[in-house]
Amino acid sequence: MIRHLAIVGATGAVGREVCAIITEGRIRVDRLTLLASSRSVGTRIEVAGRSFEVAETTERGFEGVQYAIFSAGADRARLFAPAAVKAGATVVDNSSAFRMDPDTPLVVPEINPDDARRHRGIISVPNCSAIILAMPVWPLHRVNRVRRIVVSTYQAASGAGAAAMEELRTQTADHLAGRKVTPRVFPHPIAFNLFSHNTAIGDDGYNVEERKVIEEMQKIFHEPHLAIAPTCIRVPVLRAHSESVNLTFERPITPQEVREILSKAPGVQLVDDVSANRFPMPIDASGRDQCLVGRIRQDISQPDGRGIQLFVCGDQLRKGAALNAVQIIELLESMKP
Ligand code: A2P
Repeated sequence: MIRHLAIVGATGAVGREVCAIITEGRIRVDRLTLLASSRSVGTRIEVAGRSFEVAETTERGFEGVQYAIFSAGADRARLFAPAAVKAGATVVDNSSAFRMDPDTPLVVPEINPDDARRHRGIISVPNCSAIILAMPVWPLHRVNRVRRIVVSTYQAASGAGAAAMEELRTQTADHLAGRKVTPRVFPHPIAFNLFSHNTAIGDDGYNVEERKVIEEMQKIFHEPHLAIAPTCIRVPVLRAHSESVNLTFERPITPQEVREILSKAPGVQLVDDVSANRFPMPIDASGRDQCLVGRIRQDISQPDGRGIQLFVCGDQLRKGAALNAVQIIELLESMKP
């Protein structure tokens, strides 16, 4: 039983997903505090059959809080997480604010649970594309070291928050009704379109999202030299990310070996029905806790048998954010003496 949980950003897409996970009964919470901006004060949210009123996030609002799940962006995390820690709470932060801080563990419970032990009040949840990539790659890497990853993402609107999901819905309706489409949240039309991830491009030609995938994978895997070449693309899907992944291993490996390893991997489900041509789809991954993996095949461009191609879909709001945060709390509870 969690004595007192606060959700910062409770009105947002990830915050509401945390509420849904509590309602499903995965974790039991004695006292729940829902926080957001001043705009949402008074909003009521139903959680586990009880109605809670949203309050404004302030530095003084964390008294007595045991765990605080932050899903309100990096600026708010930098502003309020230190106050939450000072008040005695353990912060599980979904933003990028502290992820690359050497003192902050970056945790996917199926992969590096022991890192959570050395936290100093804050544990970061990795970027959603990094988590969904890490889930099938880690169990393979443990058996046969992965030397190089080439990944292309097909990222859902949910990664940009509730307003972006709403923009996809309204733009789709506007487009079908022949009305003018005006992008507000995204820089380009999202309905019936796709575009390079809407983050700044660095001098090396990679955008911020692609940098996160590289650096966070290296940190989660404790492999600072793991070679990763990502291309991150936003697609008109509501809430599940897809990724096309090409792996080069240290030693030769067959698709059958990969299937065997992944069929036993926690948090991963094989969807690889070649005869029915049925493979992972974001619509099937939506609302699911597992990452779906399929299209497992030898990379025929690598004649030494060290290359594998696969396709993964994972719910961005669940394993990509809210579920991973809840799992970190479960992990910390299980580590208590
Ligand atoms: P609000 O709904 O009051 O704006 P999303 O990722 O779906 O866009 O959600 C972002 C979350 O962060 C929302 O719950 C939002 O609350 C919250 N938020 C935004 N600005 C602030 C702020 N200044 N202080 C606290 N929470 C904020």
